[in-house]
Amino acid sequence: MDLIYEIKLLNKNQIEDVINLEKKLLHKENAKEYILYEANENPVSYFYVACNKNTILGYIDFWITFDSATISTFAVDLPYQNNHVGTTLLKEMFKQLIRQNIKYVTLEVRTSNAQAINLYKKFNFKIETIKKNYYKDGEDAYYMVSEVDYVKNYFSN
Ligand SMILES: CC(C)(COP(=O)(O)OP(=O)(O)OC[C@H]1O[C@@H](n2cnc3c(N)ncnc32)[C@H](O)[C@@H]1OP(=O)(O)O)[C@@H](O)C(=O)NCCC(=O)NCCS
Repeated sequence: MDLIYEIKLLNKNQIEDVINLEKKLLHKENAKEYILYEANENPVSYFYVACNKNTILGYIDFWITFDSATISTFAVDLPYQNNHVGTTLLKEMFKQLIRQNIKYVTLEVRTSNAQAINLYKKFNFKIETIKKNYYKDGEDAYYMVSEVDYVKNYFSN
């Protein structure tokens, strides 16, 4: 599938759609409060969407504090998955991190989420530790870390 989309910062008209995607794709109970806070209040949040006019294909929200970053949420809507939209969003994040001289980026991911874990590994994320019962349903999380310097090579290839 040849998808046409741009990566832009989230705008206010897209908030409702992102809330619905967050509920659908990540089953977050507090999706509304969470997205509203990220979009309107969180001073360290960078929220990018992959969009084609009014359609949101995917999004990534990450926080930058001092010399590190954390992925807060990241998802691609079902019809568009496996078309490298997620890869493009992660590249956009790394571009920002390189620009701001950030040293490393962290995330938590369900240990069962092979699709996401494989994608993260392409960006040099390595499993640092397991966080037991991290999710409300009791599933464990992998805590993964990537060194931004190392990923710079990804852009020169
Ligand atoms: C994780 C997610 C954002 C990835 O987005 P995406 O646009 O589908 O990802 P991409 O197409 O860029 O990545 C494809 C890579 O994922 C991996 N992948 C794809 N399908 C896979 C599968 N069935 N099993 C294992 N790995 C798979 C491969 O490494 C693939 O790379 P390749 O195409 O070069 O071989 C998307 O699957 C998603 O939204 N999932 C639900 C929400 C979620 O889990 N978010 C992450 C929370 S930590």
